[in-house]
Amino acid sequence: MQSGSTQGGRFEIPGAVSCGAGEGGLPCARLTAAEAEAEICLLGATVTRYDAGGRKVLFCSETSKFASGKAIRGGVPVIFPWFGPHPTDAALPQHGFARTSEWLVTEARRTGDGDVVVVLELTASDATRALWPHDFLLRYTVSVGSRLMLTLEVVNRSGEPFQFTEAFHTYLAVSDVRNIRITGLENTEYADKVAGMARKRLPHAPLTLFGETDRVFVNTAAACTLHDPEYGDIHVSKSGSRSTVVWNPWDKADSMADLGGGQWPGFVCIETANALENAVTLAAGASHRMTAIIDPHE
Ligand code: BG6
Repeated sequence: MQSGSTQGGRFEIPGAVSCGAGEGGLPCARLTAAEAEAEICLLGATVTRYDAGGRKVLFCSETSKFASGKAIRGGVPVIFPWFGPHPTDAALPQHGFARTSEWLVTEARRTGDGDVVVVLELTASDATRALWPHDFLLRYTVSVGSRLMLTLEVVNRSGEPFQFTEAFHTYLAVSDVRNIRITGLENTEYADKVAGMARKRLPHAPLTLFGETDRVFVNTAAACTLHDPEYGDIHVSKSGSRSTVVWNPWDKADSMADLGGGQWPGFVCIETANALENAVTLAAGASHRMTAIIDPHE
């Protein structure tokens, strides 16, 4: 494994991008923009922190592991090439391997308007081929400013088509998940994972959460707004994504080693995704882009 200082170091920009050891000694990049700051752990290319205008936008568990090969419990883990359990082999890791692989920084720049952009890449290796037999390039662009913009480009470098599912597993910090509302998913069909994947449809009303919630909304390109009466709104818009996942485990979290201690009311996941029937099929040589824009405003 290369350390952050040796790998990311040559992309440092004084005052904007610095690279070094972060939590758990893992390599990380720290980004400073005009009115925002962010931290990206190269393990999973996980954006673990995004603070804009003094507001902490992302939740990261106080008991998260920061260790090679373990997914980080918080921020924005990148999910690829399968979302949830593997479709045919339950022995394979949940949510694929992108979130537990070490990515490389390949570019860093400051834009004319003071935003800071870092590009990270992951390519096929013996380790990924053991889990998924295809050659690919993932190019992940993280743009930090008054909004956080994430774009994952998947390039098929193999000689035949492949299919994948994916998500930005975004943990948004909230004052209390029991008091928030989510708009934008009204009248949308979903698979209810807490009811054995039963197909349901949200009524024409905002989504409120009253217990364990794990829903994969399908065939939706709509933007969502998280309304938090204390912290203010967060707008999540997207392109190249046909699914949106909403997740909070409620008090089941207390039995999860990396999410215990009563932390569960402090977040909701609103995940920009392509899952279930929205899986993407990519021809040899073709590429696909999914973008999420996370825009906090009062
Ligand atoms: C969500 C899934 O995206 O991630 C849930 O819909 C899952 O089913 C959750 O429990 C957390 O997954 P993990 O693997 O990080 O514990």
